[in-house]
Amino acid sequence: MDINKSEFVISSPTWTMCPKDVKPEYAFIGRSNVGKSSLINMLCNHKNLAKTSATPGKTLLINHFIINNEWYLVDLPGYGYAKRSKVVQKKLEQMITSYILQREQLVNVFVLIDIRHGFQAIDREFIDWLGQSNVPFSIVFTKADKLAVTKVSPAVEGYMASLADTWEELPPYFITSSDKKTGRDEVLDYIDSINKT
Ligand code: GTP
Ligand code: MG
Repeated sequence: MDINKSEFVISSPTWTMCPKDVKPEYAFIGRSNVGKSSLINMLCNHKNLAKTSATPGKTLLINHFIINNEWYLVDLPGYGYAKRSKVVQKKLEQMITSYILQREQLVNVFVLIDIRHGFQAIDREFIDWLGQSNVPFSIVFTKADKLAVTKVSPAVEGYMASLADTWEELPPYFITSSDKKTGRDEVLDYIDSINKT
């Protein structure tokens, strides 16, 4: 599958304000600065569709992008950014969790993990919560260009093995670099495959 058309639709402060039409959607979540917005731009072959920044905490709303007029990619704010005030942090958490639990159109959540750091405690917490809530998710290891090529597979195998202590069945995972534009076909083909099921 390829993306021929991608357009920004709306930024919403709550899930109740998200687009009303019923089209399948796929959301990207992960720690601040992990590369969610960059990955959406890479998938869409579009430099500035989603706003990116070297400073964590750039994305603060639920952002819908319509793809091929048929489905949505959704850019979410990052979790776990220590420099935010407790009040803002709490508000964002609530925005993210209620969107994930309530949004019926949501087909899959992609949880992004920086390939240099693997799963941090907050990522494990988030993934465990997704599992307990029966939300389908998969993992995307980002910024693969930051590791030497020979270190990529051993690192990822180690990270996935570390999930096996609490997970009987491991989620699908992908390795991407938005800088080098790698992993694009794998993620898009996966979206295509679950779109049809
Ligand atoms: P928040 O919206 O703040 O939560 O961040 P985000 O997860 O959307 O991250 P964003 O896409 O804004 O990227 C954060 C920084 O990481 C930017 O400086 C990007 O250029 C950089 N970055 C993102 N993806 C990659 C990648 O694949 N490789 C490299 N080298 N840098 C990347
Ligand atoms: Mg962002």
